[in-house]
Amino acid sequence: MLQKFFTVSSVFLFIASFLPICTQAQSIPIETQSNALVLHKDSANNLTVIYYGKKLSDEREYVLVPASYKQSEDYTGLSNAAYTPSGSKNILEPAISVVHADGNKSLDLRYVTHKLDQLADNVSLLEVELKDPVYDFTVRLFYKSYFAEDVIEQWSVIEHNEKGAVLLEKFASANLTLKSNSYWLRQYHGDWAKEMQPEDSKITHGIKTIDSKLGTRANLFQPSSFMVSLDKPAPEDEGTVLFGTLGYSGNFKVDMELDYLNNLRIIGGINNYASNYTLKPQEKFTTPKFIYTLSTTGKGKASRNLHNWARKYKLLDGQGDRLTLLNNWEATYFDFNENKLKELLKDTKKLGVDLFLLDDGWFANKYPRNNDDTGLGDWQVNKKKLPNGITSLVKEAGRQDVKFGIWVEPEMVSPKSELYEQHPDWVIKQSARAEHYFRNQLVLDLSNPAVQNFVFGVLDELFTENPELAYIKWDCNAIIYNAYSAHLKNQEHFYIEYMRGLYHVLERIRAKYPKVPMMLCSGGGGRVDYAALQYFTEFWPSDNTDPMERIFMQYEYSYFYPAISTSNHVTDWGKQPIKFRTDVAMMGKLGFDIVVSELNEKDLKFCQDAVQIYNNMKDIIWHGDQYRLADPREGNFAAIQYIDTNRSAGVIFNYLVNNRYDQGSHFPVLLKGLDANKKYKITEINLYPGTSSSINNKQVYSGEFLMKIGINPDLHKDRTSVILEIKAID
Ligand code: DGJ
Repeated sequence: MLQKFFTVSSVFLFIASFLPICTQAQSIPIETQSNALVLHKDSANNLTVIYYGKKLSDEREYVLVPASYKQSEDYTGLSNAAYTPSGSKNILEPAISVVHADGNKSLDLRYVTHKLDQLADNVSLLEVELKDPVYDFTVRLFYKSYFAEDVIEQWSVIEHNEKGAVLLEKFASANLTLKSNSYWLRQYHGDWAKEMQPEDSKITHGIKTIDSKLGTRANLFQPSSFMVSLDKPAPEDEGTVLFGTLGYSGNFKVDMELDYLNNLRIIGGINNYASNYTLKPQEKFTTPKFIYTLSTTGKGKASRNLHNWARKYKLLDGQGDRLTLLNNWEATYFDFNENKLKELLKDTKKLGVDLFLLDDGWFANKYPRNNDDTGLGDWQVNKKKLPNGITSLVKEAGRQDVKFGIWVEPEMVSPKSELYEQHPDWVIKQSARAEHYFRNQLVLDLSNPAVQNFVFGVLDELFTENPELAYIKWDCNAIIYNAYSAHLKNQEHFYIEYMRGLYHVLERIRAKYPKVPMMLCSGGGGRVDYAALQYFTEFWPSDNTDPMERIFMQYEYSYFYPAISTSNHVTDWGKQPIKFRTDVAMMGKLGFDIVVSELNEKDLKFCQDAVQIYNNMKDIIWHGDQYRLADPREGNFAAIQYIDTNRSAGVIFNYLVNNRYDQGSHFPVLLKGLDANKKYKITEINLYPGTSSSINNKQVYSGEFLMKIGINPDLHKDRTSVILEIKAID
């Protein structure tokens, strides 16, 4: 390995010969297609971030960047440290704080060496080793860069060789520095059914933190995903903006510190709340990946960077197919039996979707799961509801020529369950305190290997008994109260060990069942992140399926996650007609959660046709490029376009979001990402039976016209939802 050090062709050296004890200063650029993130080692071996922006043609010029800034005095030379240590010279928020084996709390990290590996055509890994000159304590920083997508995944590995254990009090994944006149944050907040509510603000001096202390369902109040625009809030197609998100499903913390020099320092990682980690000598502590992309051409490009990266490298089967489905949750809730489900299997076929998804309520006998306060943990089929088991339903699905999927919530336990009675020590609780429930349930202690085996076994048994099982919805409804593990000796490790346990189980599941599609659900969008999505093919954004709300929510989710990962179901939420509801659900991975047998003839016909239309265009939605054309928060309508990579076939979804007098698309919508020289026809599709389109589908337009003048979807109070197909003509 050592011989690989210093082989980086992109590094250049200069000698600061005027310094008495100088070593060579060196810049280490991490270049992707459009950008460079430049690290710099000074003559005293301090490692800083000197630049993150558009890349230069001559990389030797990066070293001139710092001199171009005339900021006030940097008293330590560490304000832009690549990984700020604590307790020595630092005067700003650290990335790492420790208590050494001898009780000393000071840490200083100096550059030792680095190496760059080309892992694949498009993927490089830079590893930089930092070491304390006094203590035998090392931090290695990893920057995995994806060239074409301008995405960087950053993490750190911490280890030491001290005489005893070291306490890690803070252990961030990444520590970035941005430079600008002003910084504008878009963060998200929410609660059940209110996920991904954006909030924009100008960042002021001091520290702004977004974090979670919820343990499980960590995103309930806010996700770790955020954007920071430089100079002004970046619109879709201009301006510089950084998108960041932590690939971690547990407690996270992102500190944004606008320091006295007017630099923005971003420090992201696991939340150190209640988590002082005792690190034994030679043990490696690996932080989760902090994922970011920088766009100098607006939010649209940043989102497409993440979409392309996620589909290619992160999301399970991101470049594959997905199944359309009928789910019974809102159609039946807990009230079903075998006959009812067999009817729903027929409805699945009638609707034309691929799969029937049996939701909550199919299990537990002593404390049957007939409502949400019993039975979690008792994953035996409820004999009263389903006397012939799941197997008979899976077989019946086969006869109906549809696939069968099932809901589980294996991390959880109901106080009224046989599991709780048999294994009270598997439950997260403080025995001396009153139990406190979230959705009437408690969380199992996944730090315990016995519990990990149990959770793995829940799925393994289902698959073993029903090899044709084609889909899993994995739910997680409770947060963690009274955090305590009867298994762990050191409770400070609890939150971290829980997540390690969860990922361990998911690894085992994927090792044995690599392909089966799984939906990541957490009472809606309570757990959506790129660590979990390595094991899941899609996520459930929210239980709120009111299409009007969904337009806004899906719009914001779409900045960070590609449409193929976003499950959208047509339900009875909201006041909109079936066409509007279906059109909105079609913008991601389409499903239904309605009583098909209660649809009137025309609504049923519309849904059946919509499934076929969706099947024809799903490839573009899942694998094409997404462009946001009209923001529902900025006007009276929303418009979102998907176009294939050849720029020859696409679709635009348009929705009126304001029902006040005379609102509509008074002006045309400018399309994006077309070939200016190609000719296109625009046709309205997914019309409700008996209605006709006001769009002239004979007219031929140049790509240039559509991108400069646009097309009017003709939205108004009688046409509130319009889908337009774009087709290049030969
Ligand atoms: C919460 C999920 O978000 C719903 O879709 C549904 O599966 C229920 N749990 C079932 O309890």
